[in-house]
Amino acid sequence: MARRILKASPEASLARPRLGFLGVGWIGRHRMQAILGTGAVDVTAIADPSPEIAAEAGKLAPEAQLVVTLDDILDLGVDGVVIATPSAMHAEQSIRTLERGVAVFCQKPLGRTAPEVQAVVDTARKSNRLLCVDLSYRFTEGMRRIREVIDSGEVGHIYAVDLVFHNAYGPDKPWFYDPALSGGGCVMDLGVHLVDLALWTMSNPGVASVTGKLFAGGAPLKDTASQVEDYAVATMELETGAVVQLACSWRLQAGCDAMISATFYGTKGGLSLRNVNGSFYDFTAERYRGTSREILTMPPDEWGGRAAADWASRLAAGERFDPAAEQLVDVARVLDRIYGR
Ligand SMILES: NC(=O)c1ccc[n+]([C@@H]2O[C@H](COP(=O)([O-])OP(=O)(O)OC[C@H]3O[C@@H](n4cnc5c(N)ncnc54)[C@H](O)[C@@H]3O)[C@@H](O)[C@H]2O)c1
Repeated sequence: MARRILKASPEASLARPRLGFLGVGWIGRHRMQAILGTGAVDVTAIADPSPEIAAEAGKLAPEAQLVVTLDDILDLGVDGVVIATPSAMHAEQSIRTLERGVAVFCQKPLGRTAPEVQAVVDTARKSNRLLCVDLSYRFTEGMRRIREVIDSGEVGHIYAVDLVFHNAYGPDKPWFYDPALSGGGCVMDLGVHLVDLALWTMSNPGVASVTGKLFAGGAPLKDTASQVEDYAVATMELETGAVVQLACSWRLQAGCDAMISATFYGTKGGLSLRNVNGSFYDFTAERYRGTSREILTMPPDEWGGRAAADWASRLAAGERFDPAAEQLVDVARVLDRIYGR
């Protein structure tokens, strides 16, 4: 009988990753589609306490086994888990997964506090597994371009950054408003993106100081155990001398669905990413020179699933722990300071 000879190639030496999905609500299903789109991985298991939601996700990956818990997923011997559960669960679920030697792609925030985030990153390093978080705005064409221009030095020294994320609808699921499940309000949900964008775009400068104010229902936030903030302002001073101002909210009387922008002012020019007509999805990036402006990027740009697809492709290429995950801890430290911890 003829023997089949398999040639050794980089592709052949890597097994195709088998993935589990934990939490397949709105974002879990969206990211599953993006990951399936890479064609580089298989969906082996789907877990969600809601059988209807799990079944809906199962339509996207008919070969997947529908199970109930994270342990069910891990017992199937998967190579990676995609976590899109309510935010307060992320750190514990990520740690349990990484401890079993399994890679993680987690929704933001990775943890509620810097010590929680540090514990996840430490576990990923120890188990040498790829850990990425869905900091999806980094993957917009606009932010990529803005980061390149800042890196090139063309806009000089960046001395001021203005960051805004007002979601005038506010989240539609009740768990977002329960501190035990969300870990916090608009800062945990939206502020995390803004702080990450500032630090990532400016190549991770040190943070010298942070001050912030939190509101709930138009009054200062009093009891973080029973309430979450729905409006926040904060100022960060960076070790470069730059000052970063941030504002984020849910359900602001904003006159449109959303106001989202990240603007960087340098000594030789400015750069700004802005949403178009209140959209959550469409952005333009512009470069400012004095009073004139030049468009850098425009919609359409299918950016939402790129971070997830990137993690899946890197996992399929055999990548292990990436020390860049430490940046997640820097972001969480800033959030802790905004919360006055
Ligand atoms: N990266 C981004 O830009 C972005 C955008 C939107 C949402 N998110 C994040 O995604 C996460 C999910 O948000 P969503 O809007 O999809 O919420 P969702 O409520 O639609 O989905 C959460 C799912 O988790 C399930 N779940 C609850 N407990 C579970 C458990 N113990 N094990 C497994 N599944 C469990 C729920 O049944 C639900 O289906 C949040 O952390 C949110 O912050 C990130």
